[in-house]
Amino acid sequence: MDLIIAKDYLDLSRRACRIIASEIKKKPDLVLGLATGSTPLGTYQELVRLYREEGLDFSQVVTFNLDEYYGLSKDNPQSYHYYMYENFFKHVNVKPENIHIPDGTATDVEAVCRKYDEEIARYGGIDLQLLGIGNNGHIGFNEPGDELLTVTHMTELTDDTIRANSRFFNSIDEVPRKAITMGLGTIMQAKKIVLLASGKNKAGIMAELLDENAVSTKNPASFLLLHKDVTVIVDEEAASLLKK
Ligand code: F6R
Repeated sequence: MDLIIAKDYLDLSRRACRIIASEIKKKPDLVLGLATGSTPLGTYQELVRLYREEGLDFSQVVTFNLDEYYGLSKDNPQSYHYYMYENFFKHVNVKPENIHIPDGTATDVEAVCRKYDEEIARYGGIDLQLLGIGNNGHIGFNEPGDELLTVTHMTELTDDTIRANSRFFNSIDEVPRKAITMGLGTIMQAKKIVLLASGKNKAGIMAELLDENAVSTKNPASFLLLHKDVTVIVDEEAASLLKK
């Protein structure tokens, strides 16, 4: 695991953007796994800037998002579909047909999940996966528990996650209780992973991840310790409790 301690959020975002841009330049049809939430917002802004100012070309890039709330339609401002279009896709030249996000309104969830994994496999797997991390160690919506599923699946959000994500909703009651998420297997098969963590509230989980050298389903992100090519970018606040 490579660890980069960025000065602040802007520095973190620029560093993440630079890694993504350099992978796109090496492989214009990059299969890019994407995350939502607060953490990657700055990275998307920087990528949009590179598209506008330097012509970074997304025309062949294929994207797969990690997750979507169950029960929210694409046009719901709280959905991850909406987030991705507003914050990234509508500002760059990624082709709509190359964008993949789990369908939160699916009735046959099992079929949708199988198709999602098949599509990822059809493109040869994810080349570069961008990840955030929950305060409880979740990646995607793979929540801590007794077991972790390998494939795309429906999951129940934990109280921790519902509480943390209620900041995006009018009230905690509006936060969906379920989501569709890529599984740990698909994430771990990504050729390259970039994990971002910013702010004091991520300092505890980052210390647990980086100082303990242990893998546990109680901390899903800990499985990343087994991956060959992970770059962790934290800002100074998220690094503030690291011992090493
Ligand atoms: C989002 C996702 C989640 C977030 C995590 C951190 O697609 O998969 O795992 O990355 O909840 O969220 P923020 O960045 O809002 O702290």
